Amino acid sequence: MARVALRTFAFRRLLHLSRFPRPSSFPTLKFHTAASALRMGASVEQFEEAKSRLSTLKNDPGNEAKLKIYALFKQSTMGPCTTGRPGMLDFINRAKWDAWNGMGNVPQEDARQQYCDLIGSLVAAEGGSASVTAKPAGSSQYNTLLVTTEDNITTIKLNRPAKKNAITTEMYTEIMAALGHASTDSSVLAVFTGAGDFYCSGNDLTNFTKIPEGGVEEMAQQGGELLRKYIKSYIDFPKPLVAVVNGPAVGVSVTVLGLFDLVYATEKATFHTPFSQLGQSAEGCSSYTFPKMMGHAKACEMLLFNKKLSAAQACSLGLVTEVFPESTFQTEVWTRLKAYAQLPPNSLALSKQLIRSSEVERLHEVNDAEVERLKERWTSDECFNAVMSFFQAKAKL
Ligand code: COA
Repeated sequence: MARVALRTFAFRRLLHLSRFPRPSSFPTLKFHTAASALRMGASVEQFEEAKSRLSTLKNDPGNEAKLKIYALFKQSTMGPCTTGRPGMLDFINRAKWDAWNGMGNVPQEDARQQYCDLIGSLVAAEGGSASVTAKPAGSSQYNTLLVTTEDNITTIKLNRPAKKNAITTEMYTEIMAALGHASTDSSVLAVFTGAGDFYCSGNDLTNFTKIPEGGVEEMAQQGGELLRKYIKSYIDFPKPLVAVVNGPAVGVSVTVLGLFDLVYATEKATFHTPFSQLGQSAEGCSSYTFPKMMGHAKACEMLLFNKKLSAAQACSLGLVTEVFPESTFQTEVWTRLKAYAQLPPNSLALSKQLIRSSEVERLHEVNDAEVERLKERWTSDECFNAVMSFFQAKAKL
């Protein structure tokens, strides 16, 4: 228990070391789980949108504005300041504490509105739009994805470009929902791609900092069950699934590629699975699919020794189907996919299911085994220290 408490404490402390004062790196668990926050509806969406807009600012808004942003963020997500004032020599934390404490008893809802207004005015000062508007009801059910169905293709675009499309807990849930929907909609193919210059930077490492009441063990348990379901939704997806890899791919976004039916990549894409570097182990059935597709030693170079592959290397090992020049990538790939999407849908789906059927049970077994191993890894000192190092490196920037 003492170990759990120490870890919980250390993780929370760690968050305060994150780069000052970018609120996206401050804790959000309380915000997401507090019953009061769930009742706030559209305002929560506006707040999330304002948070992402903050990371698009090109100019440093200055210390006064940064302290104000910090104070409003803390008040919005945690309510009035109740911690003790930092010591005289701890200048930065003392200034931050003063700013937050200065908010007094301003209600969280008002603080969120002020936060949105302030970010809006800073964005406007740089020539952007001042308004942070909530999505009209029904316009999209997703906060982290752009999902469209056009030309018989359902496209699931990861949409957190400021965070290189790192996958948060919310995003895992939304991707499963989008896959579930795509499996029964009128589309012939489903396509994954990323917004911005990255395809995806893998699991969002802040997921590890959101420690529930039950401590790190409970976090590992919940994370494991989420991952199991997430991978299951790829194994069981009934239609052809295509990845349009528009930039670098890391972690789980690479491992699941072994469960896709086609992987088209731009020449500037890279493929990296730095699991041992992070004290973790393989997922996405890659401990089975990678050795099968590329041979034991090449799979070990990636999954054990963190070798980052270029698009051309990934193609020669069978992980990528075809590589395209960056200048013609989108046009060539989409022209081809639109033609494929005209093929008879039942024939495509049934053929895909036939190919998958011979190993579907094996894939579920592999998924289960990988998840069990990861649940243990996530509570290990090796993983804890590696995640700490990531955030400490950010804090030093
Ligand atoms: N988890 C959490 N945050 C992430 C992230 C991840 N997996 N990947 C990127 N980010 C965040 C960065 O912390 C940064 O946030 P900030 O603007 O608040 O500081 C923002 O996204 C942009 O990333 P940055 O590191 O500035 O871009 P880069 O081009 O220099 O590097 C990566 C991109 C992906 C190489 C680097 O962010 C990285 O190594 N991320 C971790 C990848 C990882 O280990 N994934 C898990 C694999 S199991």
